[in-house]
Amino acid sequence: MQLSSRKSGALRGTARIPGDKSISHRALMIGAVATGDMIISGLLESADIHATAMALRALGVRVGRDEAGLWQVRGRGPHGLQNPKQVLDMGNSGTGVRLLAGLLAGTDVTATFTGDSSLVKRPMKRVLEPLTQMGAQVLARDDIALPFTLRGAGKHTASITYNMPVPSAQVKSAILLAGLFADGQTIVTETRPTRNHTEIMLAHCGADITAAEDGRIVLNGGKLLPGGSLQVPGDPSAAAFIAAAAVLAGESDVTMTRICVNPTRMGFYETLQEMGADIVISRSRSEYGEMVADITIRGGAKLSGVDVKPERIPAMVDEVPVLAVIAACAAGVTHLRGLAELRVKESDRVALMTAGLLGCGTSVEVSGDDMTIHGNGHAPRGGALIDTGMDHRIAMSFLTLGTVTEEPITIDDARMIGTSFPDFARVMNDLGAAIAPPDEPVFATDP
Ligand code: S3P
Repeated sequence: MQLSSRKSGALRGTARIPGDKSISHRALMIGAVATGDMIISGLLESADIHATAMALRALGVRVGRDEAGLWQVRGRGPHGLQNPKQVLDMGNSGTGVRLLAGLLAGTDVTATFTGDSSLVKRPMKRVLEPLTQMGAQVLARDDIALPFTLRGAGKHTASITYNMPVPSAQVKSAILLAGLFADGQTIVTETRPTRNHTEIMLAHCGADITAAEDGRIVLNGGKLLPGGSLQVPGDPSAAAFIAAAAVLAGESDVTMTRICVNPTRMGFYETLQEMGADIVISRSRSEYGEMVADITIRGGAKLSGVDVKPERIPAMVDEVPVLAVIAACAAGVTHLRGLAELRVKESDRVALMTAGLLGCGTSVEVSGDDMTIHGNGHAPRGGALIDTGMDHRIAMSFLTLGTVTEEPITIDDARMIGTSFPDFARVMNDLGAAIAPPDEPVFATDP
């Protein structure tokens, strides 16, 4: 299904941003091995999270939702998961497959994983290698790819010391989840900090885990997690699209409440502020171990190009596509450096952003894993049909750009938006955007 975005005026109002995707996956999985019930509010309800919920059900976990939207996971304890009768289809979700493989590596379960046409192309060696060191047995296509079958090491799980070769929260989390009930200490060291939601949630739920300033995370395995309650804050990566649209349209004034502002996720907002955007973060507080706050964006500020160094990329790894869109509208050159990980996301995001921006009339160069975007100080022409590569963030980035280009921007297929932000078009339109199938009028929901 194609979707078009047309030039709209200012965006105004309060936007409800769905629950954080990373935290939602973790809440379900950690709930599954708790000894009691886990009650979760604010869970993201999207295709990726449903895939994780379905996989947990196949492992014998009762996962339910009441009419008010409260989710309940009936924990089966450290050794209570069952061998699934079906293949676990994790859909489009790298987080789902990598974290669940980690969780199962420490159990007695044998399970086969697969995913959609994008997920089966993504690197799995980075996670299978440390899990094998911990004692899991793996039989994988070409030794490194999905589909793969994993047999957990159960009580024989070896705790390891692992220095992360690539900055990846998914790999770090897989190792920590595998070591959760192992004898001894699992130690993971990061040179570049990545999102730390697993560490925070495990500590909140009763695990013996500490993280030091120098990037060393130490987990003493074997502690039971009793269950309890969790509240998922709004997703800063989903909020980034709304923020971008508001920043780009003069006179905009948009507030997003209860957004996760964990510093490991703030790279996009920090970069926007450096570019000159008017962003106010208020009412910061800690909830269930995570920092949350309200974010208010006012549009119309003059934005200038920026030099984003590789060290910042992990804190904005999912927001690089939408930052590239903003860079295309800013005055001057933006350098985005060290984007190797962007090439192994749901698509090769460096290639697809470059092609799409060129199609919209922006001058972009790529050298190795660095992108250079030449902004003219105003929106590019637009008017392109975008190849999204079935990648939700490419899709939403170009629909965001289309809110300010002279000519509408159409994306080739909008279905994948449902993996992370099913209500994206409605939330945008309620603020004043004009996103609809080509040749159809736009209807915003009445307030
Ligand atoms: C995620 C980590 C990131 C991110 C992904 C979610 C997570 O991936 O891109 O959308 O929840 O741990 P990597 O850790 O592979 O960089």
